[in-house]
Amino acid sequence: RTVYVNGEYLPETEAKVSIFDRGFLFADAVYEVTSVLDGKLIDFEGHAVRLERSLNELDMQSACTKEELLGIHRKLVELNEIEEGLVYLQVSRGSDGDRDFVFPSEDTKPTLVLFTQNKPGLANSPAAQKGAKVISIDDIRWGRRDIKTVQLLYPSMGKMMAKAAGADDAWLVEDGYVTEGTSNNAYYVKDGKIITRPLSNDILHGITRKAVLRLAEEAQMTIEERLFTIDEAKEADEAFTTSASAFVMPVVEIDGAQLGDGTPGPIAKRLREIYLEEAR
Ligand code: PDD
Repeated sequence: RTVYVNGEYLPETEAKVSIFDRGFLFADAVYEVTSVLDGKLIDFEGHAVRLERSLNELDMQSACTKEELLGIHRKLVELNEIEEGLVYLQVSRGSDGDRDFVFPSEDTKPTLVLFTQNKPGLANSPAAQKGAKVISIDDIRWGRRDIKTVQLLYPSMGKMMAKAAGADDAWLVEDGYVTEGTSNNAYYVKDGKIITRPLSNDILHGITRKAVLRLAEEAQMTIEERLFTIDEAKEADEAFTTSASAFVMPVVEIDGAQLGDGTPGPIAKRLREIYLEEAR
C-alpha cells in the first residue's frame, strides 16, 4: 500500500511519525473516514468541512487546503486501485520533540497522514443483509463528541463488550438516553416514524446522517429528532445506524430483544438502497 505522510507518498513500511507526536502521546489529533465506491469518493466536501470544524474547535492548524486534500485522496485511491473501500485521514498537532501537556508553539507543523483501506464488497456486505445485533452500554466519553478526535479507546472497548456478548456493536446511553453507536449514528423506526437524537455536542454530526435524513425527507418519510431511551428502541418496529464505513446498517436486535421479525426492516433497507443509488 502507498500511504501519505506530510507531503510524501511512500510504501507503508517506510512511513514514519515521531514518537513524540501529540497524536500518539495525547490523542491530540482529529480524523475523517471517507468511503469510496466505484473508485469515487463519497461526500468528500462534507468530510472536508467537518475536518475544518474539528481543527478550529481545537485551535489546530489546517495542514493544507481543501483542494490539496482532495488531490491527496484521489491520488491514493488511484495509486492503490481502490474500487470499494475507505480513505482514512488524520491530522495531529505534531510535536516539538518532547512530551509536554502545554501545546507546542503555533509554528509547530501538524502531522498529516492518509491511507486507504481496500474493502471489496462494501456496498453489498452480507452483514447489512443480515442486520446487526447491538447491546447498550454506558456512554462515559468526554463531552465534545461533535469533534472527531482519535480518542477511540472507549468505543473500541464497546465493540469488544458487544463481541463478548455475542453482538456486533454497542449503542451508548447517557442519562437514560441513547447518544449514538460506537462509530455510527443511531435511529429507530416506530409506526413509520424515524426517530434520532438531535445534533448537539453529545454526538458526532454524521455526514451520512445528514445525507440519509435528507433522502428520507425527499422520500416523504417522517423524521423526529428527539432524545430516546433504549427501552423505546427495544419496542421499535426496526432500527438502523449510519456511518461512512457501513452506510445504512439495519439493526435487528437490541439487548437481546428482537425487532420486528428479526430481519432488516423495510425503511432501513429502502434508505440503504437510495443512499447507495445516489452515492454511485
Ligand atoms: N465513524 N458517530 C461516531 C461516534 C462515529 O465515530 C462516526 C463515524 C459516526 C458517523 O459519522 P459519518 O456518517 O460522518 O461517518 C457517528 C467512522 C466511520 C470511524 O470511526 O471509522
